[in-house]
Amino acid sequence: MKDLDKIIFALPKGRILKQAVELMLESDIKPEEDFSKQHSRKLRFLTNEQDLDLIRIRSADVPTFVAFGAADIGIAGQDDLLELDYPELYVPLDLNIGICRLVIARSDQAKSKEKSSSLSHIKIATKYPNITKKYFEKKGVQAECIKLNGAIELAPNLGLCERIVDIVETGETLKANGLVEIEKIMDISSCLIVNRTSLKTKPEKINKLINRFTETVHGKAA
Ligand code: PRP
Repeated sequence: MKDLDKIIFALPKGRILKQAVELMLESDIKPEEDFSKQHSRKLRFLTNEQDLDLIRIRSADVPTFVAFGAADIGIAGQDDLLELDYPELYVPLDLNIGICRLVIARSDQAKSKEKSSSLSHIKIATKYPNITKKYFEKKGVQAECIKLNGAIELAPNLGLCERIVDIVETGETLKANGLVEIEKIMDISSCLIVNRTSLKTKPEKINKLINRFTETVHGKAA
């Protein structure tokens, strides 16, 4: 049952978690001990603040929990925000963490040197079918998207698709799987996101959190 007086803060598991937790600690939010226990199966945690609980969920699910009001506030990547495109979300702050880019890549063995703009139809494996379709539509190309949830880099060399659209941080995963980047779609970072209804119904608590994160982020940038 959701305690209506509580603020639920959604944190993304995975590669952004460490940076997100650092920002949270610097903003004086301290999770209960279980949060850092590796073997804990708990998904919801108390904090040093009585009216603030944390949930730890898959990064791609943070926008959904917040948009539907299951969480009031969270940290999400611009890739997932654009893909899901929920009107219920307000994005008050770029946290400047989780910096990466969304790119188109293909096998480094691919013989065809043609640019995507010269094709009329292309098969693409991706976690981001909506972004991908829109991006290629603008170029007059019909993208047939095969939705995968991970290990996208295997797809071209196993004949599943000609290209992939995925995030790249260091470029190691592309390289290790015989792929090359051919085009950047957009730069990405992670942002603070807020449910618009929560902002109206709990303005004081939510604005206090936004202000604390803003001070932390601006303090780092100074
Ligand atoms: C992401 C992405 C790439 C990889 C890129 O996957 O989908 O596979 O990171 O990072 P790199 O350029 O530094 O190698 P992630 O590790 O988040 O796992 P996932 O495939 O399970 O989503």
